[in-house]
Amino acid sequence: MAMAGSPAVCVTGAGGYIASWLVKLLLARGYSVHGTVRDLSDKKTAHLKRLENAAENLRLFKADLLVYDAMAAAVVGCQGVFHVATPVPSEKLTDPELQMLASAVTGTTNVLRAASAANVQRAVAVSSIVAVEINPKGWPEGKIRDENCWSDEEFCRSIESWYPVAKIISEKAALEYGHRTGLDVVTVNPGLVFGPLLQPIVNASNQFLIYLLKGGPDKVRNKLWHVVDVRDLAEALLLVYEAPQASGRHICAPHVISVRDLLDLLKSKYPGYPYTTEESICDRDHPAPMTSDKLKKLGWSCRLLEETIADTVEFFQQAGFLEDLGGEDPCRFPPLFNKI
Ligand SMILES: NC(=O)c1ccc[n+]([C@@H]2O[C@H](COP(=O)([O-])OP(=O)(O)OC[C@H]3O[C@@H](n4cnc5c(N)ncnc54)[C@H](OP(=O)(O)O)[C@@H]3O)[C@@H](O)[C@H]2O)c1
Repeated sequence: MAMAGSPAVCVTGAGGYIASWLVKLLLARGYSVHGTVRDLSDKKTAHLKRLENAAENLRLFKADLLVYDAMAAAVVGCQGVFHVATPVPSEKLTDPELQMLASAVTGTTNVLRAASAANVQRAVAVSSIVAVEINPKGWPEGKIRDENCWSDEEFCRSIESWYPVAKIISEKAALEYGHRTGLDVVTVNPGLVFGPLLQPIVNASNQFLIYLLKGGPDKVRNKLWHVVDVRDLAEALLLVYEAPQASGRHICAPHVISVRDLLDLLKSKYPGYPYTTEESICDRDHPAPMTSDKLKKLGWSCRLLEETIADTVEFFQQAGFLEDLGGEDPCRFPPLFNKI
């Protein structure tokens, strides 16, 4: 339920995959939304303008995370902020420290400073399970991983896995900013996010699933993936914003499945696609899984994985994302996922 008077909230990177679903949910629940985008053109924003209630209650602001004044202008008049955008890793980082790490922290800090300046009640920052699960120092091998578990930043740096480093240091910066200034900051750590798309451009986590169906030249690690539906994640983000007792981190990664099991599930329901081959799959040890119990105790519930997979694949089919089988350009596996 929206609070009285339809308060405004700001969503950073509003045109992205997760943010678009969050904007849709917020508008449906009666919120006014200030969405920040880097590019106001129709290519990036037409899908937002088409959402229910968008004509009355959605305002789009052109703002790069790295430009404080632009962010501050978007947050003025808001009671809450959802910081969803993140500088996206590219394959060819020439200076990861500057291009990814400094910009992730500066972006987060700019958004939170803007939130303080606008006297917002709570800021929700989207982190990731990559800030939880990678080689956590001192965490007993078989122990279920919860919000007390932090990925080892130094280990991630040593293997040049920059995306997790960016998520670890920006989540720490967000929580520390809250402790230092008194701003109410909570974080959410989603697993691999699947589900239908609202925006026209395929994001990395759905490209993961498309690659499993289509196959291609890249190897895929058979790790235990934690999956969440994008629509359930949007509900989780709104819940941690609205629930007074929410605090700190919230793992949002309810379904645990290996790549081999995910392939079996897909093949049993959707025969006829080429699929990633047996030879492309590299086995590795499976550490203890993560729990999303903290979020569930706040009242969050989610769809079954089978429903998410069915809705996602059927969306891909309708959108034509599974065509071009055996075409000239092979399907590629996003390299990021072999680093985490
Ligand atoms: N998808 C997943 O499986 C997953 C899992 C865990 C956590 N997450 C986190 O969820 C968040 C959203 O991810 P997504 O999957 O929705 O990805 P996405 O569709 O690629 O969205 C990323 C967004 O960040 C924006 N952005 C990038 N650099 C920016 C900058 N310098 N200033 C302002 N905006 C910038 C992009 O804007 P443009 O459109 O202008 O490029 C885009 O809107 C990220 O924080 C990500 O780390 C995602």
